[in-house]
Amino acid sequence: MEKTSAQGPLEKLEQWDDFVASRYKADRTPDEFRQHTQDAPSVVREFYRLNHTHQTRDFVEQKRRQYLSLEKQRMSVWEAMKYLNTLVDDSDPDTDLSQIQHLLQTAEAIRRDGNPHWMVVTGLIHDLGKILWLWGEPQWAVVGDTFPVACPWSDKIVYSEYFSANPDSQVARYQTGLGVYQEGCGLDNVLMSWGHDEYLYHVVRNYLPEPALYMIRYHSFYPWHKEGAYHPLMNSRDHEMLPWVQKFNPYDLYSKGVEKPDVDQLKPYYQELIAEFFPAELHW
Ligand SMILES: [Fe+2]
Ligand SMILES: [Fe+2]
Repeated sequence: MEKTSAQGPLEKLEQWDDFVASRYKADRTPDEFRQHTQDAPSVVREFYRLNHTHQTRDFVEQKRRQYLSLEKQRMSVWEAMKYLNTLVDDSDPDTDLSQIQHLLQTAEAIRRDGNPHWMVVTGLIHDLGKILWLWGEPQWAVVGDTFPVACPWSDKIVYSEYFSANPDSQVARYQTGLGVYQEGCGLDNVLMSWGHDEYLYHVVRNYLPEPALYMIRYHSFYPWHKEGAYHPLMNSRDHEMLPWVQKFNPYDLYSKGVEKPDVDQLKPYYQELIAEFFPAELHW
């Protein structure tokens, strides 16, 4: 397994998640937000530069053709967790089990607050789409704040200045009005930048209730659920579902505890929970 650096500038994938969490630290004013963004490590800025330069409509459509027939592999949810974990952390003994830890910490925080089973299982699986990275996708096509393609980029997208190098900036139809979309068309009809959210949504879409699917599909769509952009594209369903996505976000961002969850001890509970929603094998 090659090291993360072979597929992008980040030292590891979690560096993006950590950056987002620090960006939205409680009480940060818009000025501090901008300052913080300027002070981000150069590898993080380089990561966003690559993401914003290469996430074109053509790229997204190519990745959808490549992955969304779900013919790569058959794996249970727990196998996917282990798969993501072992390989991602292969090169980094300090973050042993970090992917499983993040998933369990998110799920445990949701469970502790007495939320329904479907939301706990959503916390458990929400980042499994990151296995794209193991299949050779560059970091910028796995993680990163997501955004619609084929319409003007919101200046609420972090480092939006980097879009000037994106070939879609030269396509007049994409840069006028709502681009290729109609007002109120609904996010389901909007092509999102490619990454772990959209991919996992397609893997699990037949097995979870709608609020769970919104949480999975749009949890990295910060310009929408955190910054209030892209509302003209929403339909009434999106308006109903937005509060669920917002309810999920703090568990994703802030559930990192000092205490590491005991994987072996929690495994029986979560295997039962997984069986409540999913078949023995999923198509990836
Ligand atoms: Fe994520
Ligand atoms: Fe996450």
